[in-house]
Amino acid sequence: MAKIKKIYICSNCGEQSPKWAGKCTACNEWETFQEEIIAKGDSREEKKSVYRASAQSKQAPKPVILPKIKAGNTQRIKAPDEELNRVLGGGIVNGSIILIGGQPGIGKSTLLLQLAINLPHTILYVSGEESEEQIKMRADRVGTPASECYILTETGVDKILNHSDKLEPDLIIIDSIQTLVSPFIESAPGSISQVRECANELQRYAKETGIPVFLIGHINKDGAIAGPKLLEHLVDVVLQFEGDRNYTYRILRTIKNRFGSTNELGIYEMQADGLREVPNPSEILLSQHEELLSGSSIAATLEGLRPLLIETQALVSTAVYGTPQRSSTGFDLRRLSMLLAVLEKRCGIHFGANDVFLNIVGGIKSDDPALDLSVVAALISSLEDIAIPSTVCFAGEVGLSGEIRAVNRIEKRIQEADRLGFEQIFISKYNTKGLDTEQYNIAVNTIGKVDELFEALFQ
Ligand code: TYD
Ligand code: MG
Repeated sequence: MAKIKKIYICSNCGEQSPKWAGKCTACNEWETFQEEIIAKGDSREEKKSVYRASAQSKQAPKPVILPKIKAGNTQRIKAPDEELNRVLGGGIVNGSIILIGGQPGIGKSTLLLQLAINLPHTILYVSGEESEEQIKMRADRVGTPASECYILTETGVDKILNHSDKLEPDLIIIDSIQTLVSPFIESAPGSISQVRECANELQRYAKETGIPVFLIGHINKDGAIAGPKLLEHLVDVVLQFEGDRNYTYRILRTIKNRFGSTNELGIYEMQADGLREVPNPSEILLSQHEELLSGSSIAATLEGLRPLLIETQALVSTAVYGTPQRSSTGFDLRRLSMLLAVLEKRCGIHFGANDVFLNIVGGIKSDDPALDLSVVAALISSLEDIAIPSTVCFAGEVGLSGEIRAVNRIEKRIQEADRLGFEQIFISKYNTKGLDTEQYNIAVNTIGKVDELFEALFQ
């Protein structure tokens, strides 16, 4: 007979302990241990006989030699949303489980409700968080249903699957996995064992019936998807929906994809009537001002595999208080300090008595090293109060000795800048290997050091 046993599991790292502790010894987080009830295993002999019996059962899969396996032509449901298709690697694979994580209020429910409304199939949208009326109000906001979209406000995973058996939908959406409860688990909704059990059950159901399932997942304070890491291992695709709530742009990023590349990303704009796809992000992210302003420059960056031209803005002003301020939005502050130090040491440009503010336009966060060159250009432009022509853009990493370093996929960046009608791009001179600059209309300027940039632009 199986015995019931209590253990404590760290909700942050999954460390197990027989006793409760205030601090997890593995990840050093405080107050993360949660009580879990597990069934203690039977004796070794009993286990052995159960294993043997189940292996010999008729339904158990047998080993198959690789060449004999038919190449599955994976059936995909094409979403009406091209950005979603892109991040999923070409559509929703039948029988797959897709987890979408993101900050509260970023638009996860909106994204999937829009999918449920616009996908011309039978959809079961399960919400454990909102009432039918709330969902109806949101649905009215984002469009008229082109699908048979059923709304179910239920949290019991057994009941949900029962309804699904009757309805036979083509797609199930669960908002959110943390609200589900399984009748076989004692702990509260959202606890590790509940999340694990419910996700397991849904995964088994998806594989058996071929119905794809979308799961919305909450994220914890560090930005990781709340619940066991196991959840991410269990599902086929993990997507992250991110952006700054004060801005309208949202980025859907692929963290894991068993059916496609993880370098893809989708860009949306949150509007009063729902999320709108942004197929040409560069054109929108460049702020449209008529007159030339100092302190603004354009970087040819790459988000995943997608080239993106974004505007960097710097404001360098005389410090009024004792310690000059450094502030940065969308760009790593330490990297900004490093670039300032490089400019000081290698070009003799001093920012010591100035406040420096840096901003990436559109609420975008980027850690593409190719931004460096554009940031440096914006800083000098603001300090000297000389505007950079709006037809010039930059792509290069700045090293500690002031050298401009090569960045990856330079052709893509140049192509995108060319397509958008830029006339000049500054890149590293070490980036020209195998590059045929003749094929572009854009002039490709190569530089080796930061001081050359200063000369090329401002003298
Ligand atoms: P929501 O999808 O509820 O976020 P999540 O499920 O990730 O918590 O999005 C809520 C936010 O989106 C809310 O602040 C209002 C805004 N919103 C719009 O701007 N336009 C819209 O059409 C909708 C439906 C929401
Ligand atoms: Mg929601």
